[in-house]
Amino acid sequence: MDILKGTRVTWLGHSVVLVETAAGTRILIDPFITGNPKYPKSFKLPAKIDYILLTHGHGDHVGDTVQIANQSGATVVAIYELADFVAQQGLEKTIGMNLGGTVRLGEVAVTMTEAKHSSGAHGATGTEYVGIAAGYVLEIEGGAVLYHAGDTAVFGDMRLIYELYRPQIAMLPIGGHYTMGPREAAMAVRLLEPNLVLPLHFGTFPPLTGTPSELQELLGSSVKVAFLEPGDSL
Ligand code: NI
Ligand code: MN
Repeated sequence: MDILKGTRVTWLGHSVVLVETAAGTRILIDPFITGNPKYPKSFKLPAKIDYILLTHGHGDHVGDTVQIANQSGATVVAIYELADFVAQQGLEKTIGMNLGGTVRLGEVAVTMTEAKHSSGAHGATGTEYVGIAAGYVLEIEGGAVLYHAGDTAVFGDMRLIYELYRPQIAMLPIGGHYTMGPREAAMAVRLLEPNLVLPLHFGTFPPLTGTPSELQELLGSSVKVAFLEPGDSL
């Protein structure tokens, strides 16, 4: 894709997205692999991953973070309390941040945005408080602006994300039940005005019934929806 200017964005089922910039920085978002029925079995993650971004503490997002970070040497980026939670599981390289803040990861400026969703992690004593749910804007130097919404409902301040960052590619949950469905995602697209939508968080489990076709139908020809199979890249 032209607007990506050499960056590769690979969808790995559910909300798992691998971003590989033209300069070689690799960022993996919400690496839910074990137990993810939509993870492409034949896909081999690169041996070296620089950063893992976590949107919130639910198991279908934290997933295999600890194991992948240990194997790949990746630094885990998350909201402060969630970064602390994974650090307690033995990870040395973590960056805790919070909503509205930006960290520079190689040539990518990563800003943590609001999301409307709960967050909690499975700890030794049950559900633990690990901060609130978030999304991320990735501004790639000389490349595109990407937005990964995490798990969220639609919210009016998505317009602020448009005003501030002008995301060209919006990765949005569309499955419904735990997040917005196609109807709400269509409103999110009106607020965000991206060039392209990459649907996430659908079809993984029976309750996640929203489909990319429904979203495309609601949007008409105004904005393009990417129809990818897990393992495909934009
Ligand atoms: Ni969730
Ligand atoms: Mn989820």
